[in-house]
Amino acid sequence: MLGLLCLFSPAVATAEPLSMVSPTILAGHGDHRPVRCDRCLPRCWNGNEEKKGNGLRRRSLCFTRHAQVTASASPRSSNQVMKKDSSRSKIYQEVLEAAREKFTREISFQSKDKDISLAKVLLYVAAEDEALMAFNREMDAQSLSNERSAMSPSEALEWDSLQQMPLAGKNISQWMDELDVIAKEVEAELISRDIGCHLVEVIEAINLVLFGFRGFKRTSVLVDSKCSYLHTVLSSRSGSAILLSIIYIEVCRRLGLNIVGSRVGEDFLIWPQTGNPEELFKVTSGHSLFAIVNGRCVEDPKSRASDLTSNSLLGLEIASNRDIIGIALANLIRLHWKRASRLTRGLMLTSPLRNAQIDTSNAPLLRPQDLRLAIMASERLLILQPHNWALRRDHGMMLYFNREYGEAVQELSICMAFAPEEEAEILEPFVEKLHLLRRESSWKSFGYSDQLTVP
Ligand SMILES: *[C@@H]1O[C@H](CO)[C@@H](O)[C@H](O)[C@H]1NC(C)=O
Repeated sequence: MLGLLCLFSPAVATAEPLSMVSPTILAGHGDHRPVRCDRCLPRCWNGNEEKKGNGLRRRSLCFTRHAQVTASASPRSSNQVMKKDSSRSKIYQEVLEAAREKFTREISFQSKDKDISLAKVLLYVAAEDEALMAFNREMDAQSLSNERSAMSPSEALEWDSLQQMPLAGKNISQWMDELDVIAKEVEAELISRDIGCHLVEVIEAINLVLFGFRGFKRTSVLVDSKCSYLHTVLSSRSGSAILLSIIYIEVCRRLGLNIVGSRVGEDFLIWPQTGNPEELFKVTSGHSLFAIVNGRCVEDPKSRASDLTSNSLLGLEIASNRDIIGIALANLIRLHWKRASRLTRGLMLTSPLRNAQIDTSNAPLLRPQDLRLAIMASERLLILQPHNWALRRDHGMMLYFNREYGEAVQELSICMAFAPEEEAEILEPFVEKLHLLRRESSWKSFGYSDQLTVP
């Protein structure tokens, strides 16, 4: 029974290197859902028709009940670190909260999925994480200068809000503009070469700008966090498969070209909805149009990209914007957990469940900042998928590793209510022990964070 436990929840496991894309998946005939084809061909690009993100969207202030519950519970726990009483840390605190609130609002179930701006959501994710890291850097610098008793009053920040905060040199609206600029470059390319509305030519122009002029590259190894945040991918030009797909989708959206995507094994496959996808995946002069962005899904002739037909694509479940954000967040959890546990090889989130042994004196050495970033990504994914029990279990385990025992007991208890019976049975003895430990630690006042930071 215990052997069934796996490292990550299904949501996170999708990012694990499971297998190559199998041609059978691509060629499989699933449910043949009708595909809307109202945008089979791009509209022409005279610049005026360009859709600027979600300018027209109605913003709603209401969240769904679940999103609200999770959202209101989470920022407190991730922001516990922010207790210093300086005006600068107050700014970081405000940015953390604002970024989480904007994120939650953007993905709230009040908004239509197609109106969600992937770019905005991912920039809010980036801003929150950057604010945490900047705050930590500052605290380190401050304690260093305190040690040297060199009183260096920290200068005022040049910015004081989420919208103004620089992320790798640009603020959020400048990064949004960057995507507009890329789309404009594609338009310029089309106009200068007098290219008409033929889909293949348009895609060629997009590829030329993204992968030729701008040099975007796909990275396969997920260890560098630069490849997993939108602003750093836009500035470094190296990105994970999902981030590169998101940039592709966002640029095409600005050109009026609707690109859809689907999870294929551990990969993500994108394509424009068209009646003739064979043409787009056909291997000509050694590669297909979507080779770079789709990577192993199509670049390897063995994956039989040329076999992709409208039928095989119909068999794939098209990812919603929320799904895509979920994949990006699951990758962030995986990335940060990997970094956090680097010194403890092979430590799995669920390892402690195996023997329900809780040994606080011999807790594994985890990097606190990376663990916190993993927890923050997990909090946001739970806002999207509140009923995903495996995700909640992983979240509870991360809180346990972070010695937030009270919160861990709470999350794991909720998880047990959703989980299949056999999984709940595995969790039960662990949660009981943890509960006892928590009571003990509050008597002895071990100084664990969950006891000290309750406001
Ligand atoms: C973003 O930065 C640009 C350039 O510094 C500035 O003009 C703009 O006002 C900033 N946006 C916000 C919302 O602060």
